[in-house]
Amino acid sequence: MGFYSQLVSHFALLIIPILTRFLSFHVEPFTPNITTDKEALISFKSQLSNDPPHPLYSWDHNSSPCNWTGVFCNNLHDNRVVALNLSGLGLSGHISTYIGNLSFHDSLQLQNNQLTGVIPDQIDIDLLIKLEVKLGKNNLYGTIPPSLGNISTLTNISFGTNTLSGKIPSHLGRLKNLIELDLTINNLTGTIPPSIYNLSSLVNFALAANDLWGEFPEDVGNRLPKLLVFRVEFLDPCTISPTLKLSKWLTTRLMELYHQV
Ligand SMILES: *[C@@H]1O[C@H](CO)[C@@H](O)[C@H](O)[C@H]1NC(C)=O
Ligand SMILES: *[C@@H]1O[C@H](CO)[C@@H](O)[C@H](O)[C@H]1NC(C)=O
Ligand SMILES: *[C@@H]1O[C@H](CO)[C@@H](O)[C@H](O)[C@H]1NC(C)=O
Ligand SMILES: *[C@@H]1O[C@H](CO)[C@@H](O)[C@H](O)[C@H]1NC(C)=O
Ligand SMILES: *[C@@H]1O[C@H](CO)[C@@H](O)[C@H](O)[C@H]1NC(C)=O
Ligand SMILES: *[C@@H]1O[C@H](CO)[C@@H](O)[C@H](O)[C@H]1NC(C)=O
Ligand SMILES: *[C@@H]1O[C@H](CO)[C@@H](O)[C@H](O)[C@H]1NC(C)=O
Ligand SMILES: *[C@@H]1O[C@H](CO)[C@@H](O)[C@H](O)[C@H]1NC(C)=O
Repeated sequence: MGFYSQLVSHFALLIIPILTRFLSFHVEPFTPNITTDKEALISFKSQLSNDPPHPLYSWDHNSSPCNWTGVFCNNLHDNRVVALNLSGLGLSGHISTYIGNLSFHDSLQLQNNQLTGVIPDQIDIDLLIKLEVKLGKNNLYGTIPPSLGNISTLTNISFGTNTLSGKIPSHLGRLKNLIELDLTINNLTGTIPPSIYNLSSLVNFALAANDLWGEFPEDVGNRLPKLLVFRVEFLDPCTISPTLKLSKWLTTRLMELYHQV
């Protein structure tokens, strides 16, 4: 390569990122509407297995997504898709990343299917009301996307019975409205991040059957005052994981709960 062309390529390396940055200020903001919802749902369907009869056969291009199986729209307001409940429909295949193009305001329920693959980490749009994400009882693997911690309206995270691995992201400690964190029966490892004890609204905290270790803080009762359900090892004090050391408060509370069932 001659000196000149080398200079040009170096210049290009420098200038291209600057140009892209500059240009990105002029890109129109992405404003989703019912048409983009429909496209995202069609993309979502395309990642699923196609064995007939397809559980989502009603999802065809020629009708409104608001009339499709498991799709719920905000009929009074802007006619956007607000919830998806496809639980127990026998879906298999992957969860499309296009799911992130749907700005759900209410709930995303995909539990009890045979979905596989990783949880897309692009579900990070600003949401208005509350959001429940239920992906339990599938075959999802990979890590829990830390970006979930940015969805401040999340109330329920229910990912139980999958093979999720890695650590519990400390970013989840930012979810001030979280009432349910169910991660039971997965392959999560490491300790519980201290930020989780900042989730003072938590009612249901379920971690049983993972490879977690560490010690619960002594003041957990003060920090999680609303806790009603606490599953470490299926409420059976005899089988509490020896690697998860309970505080005195928790041992007492767990005994109380255990004797109530
Ligand atoms: C939705 O947005 C797309 C692109 O932004 C636009 O072309 C389309 O007309 C919009 N559709 C509706 C129903 O508003
Ligand atoms: C999803 O959103 C991205 C921008 O975030 C856009 O480029 C893409 O076209 C959208 N896809 C669908 C299917 O709406
Ligand atoms: C939904 O289906 C009903 C009956 O099939 C029809 O009357 C209605 O227009 C459809 N709604 C939309 C938004 O397509
Ligand atoms: C979702 O669908 C399942 C199965 O049809 C049903 O049992 C459940 O009550 C639904 N949940 C909501 C919030 O509508
Ligand atoms: C959360 O949002 C902020 C601001 O948009 C962003 O800088 C950060 O990378 C996001 N965090 C994650 C874990 O996605
Ligand atoms: C969200 O969590 C609360 C507390 O555990 C529970 O009562 C509620 O039924 C959950 N919502 C859904 C849709 O599962
Ligand atoms: C997850 O844990 C189960 C039970 O401990 C084990 O049989 C399985 O091999 C693990 N899977 C992965 C992907 O690590
Ligand atoms: C818990 O919240 C407090 C107050 O918002 C903050 O100062 C602290 O850093 C948080 N702790 C963790 C471990 O995230």
